[in-house]
Amino acid sequence: MIAIDKEKCIGCGMCVKDCPAGKLKLKEKKAVYTPECIECGHCVAVCPMAAVSIPEYDMADVEEYNKDEFSIDPEHFLHAVKFRRSIRSYKKQPLEKEKMEKILQAGRYTPTAKNSQSCRFIVLRNELEEFKTLLWEEIPELAERLKGEMPQYAMLFKFMYRRWKKDHAADQLFFNAPSCIMVVSDNPLDGGLAAANMETMAAAEGAGVLFSGYLQRIIEASPKLKEWLGIPDRHLTSCMLIGYPAVTYKRTAPRKKADIVWR
Ligand SMILES: Cc1cc2nc3c(=O)[nH]c(=O)nc-3n(C[C@H](O)[C@H](O)[C@H](O)COP(=O)(O)O)c2cc1C
Repeated sequence: MIAIDKEKCIGCGMCVKDCPAGKLKLKEKKAVYTPECIECGHCVAVCPMAAVSIPEYDMADVEEYNKDEFSIDPEHFLHAVKFRRSIRSYKKQPLEKEKMEKILQAGRYTPTAKNSQSCRFIVLRNELEEFKTLLWEEIPELAERLKGEMPQYAMLFKFMYRRWKKDHAADQLFFNAPSCIMVVSDNPLDGGLAAANMETMAAAEGAGVLFSGYLQRIIEASPKLKEWLGIPDRHLTSCMLIGYPAVTYKRTAPRKKADIVWR
């Protein structure tokens, strides 16, 4: 529900113009809302008088626009994108909780289709070791199950398991990362976009990430692991290992020739 403070509303019509669903109109020079909308919050954000609110949301969380604070230097941004690397070697020191919270904010504020805002973020820190053991114990049975439809994965997971069994430090799934963030969403694109913003935020905090498709696949194939995570009926879209990198890259990594079609 959208609430309009009639005292503050000056009837400028900016919210009416910006509403993607056409749910606002002007009546006797005041904005009026007709239910129901996707609560995208554009009306809140565009109102010059701060007359619009969504009472069921935390309005104290809304920040005022400040031109001087809002600037992403294009060169810096591209530099960050190019120098970002998948991290497979981490320092033991975990990321501070405040930094983790900022990274989660970047995920939470990422757009979602129809503004569903339905991503859940599961942070494994204290219980990561317990989860790791549980997951590794699942591997032999999972590899057996995958033998028919995905023989390469079955072989690879068996090989990784044997290495881990010999030496727990040789962990090719968790890479000894001190924490892991899982993004749960029924829309893979929503989850992926949130994860991408979180990775950029992590880089801004001096941290590094590895998206693990293997972990995501293993967890999705295991009702036991999904139960443990509290997501038996939901989809895990991204699994991100996260921590301070124990490796410094001296230059960008080369890429294939760009495949861009200009028309
Ligand atoms: C969706 C996704 C899943 C990935 N899964 C794994 C994985 O399971 N294990 C791994 O070592 N790397 C994984 N990677 C990392 C890629 O292999 C990596 O992006 C690629 O080697 C290029 O290196 P860069 O990210 O440093 O540029 C994944 C990356 C993405 C985007």
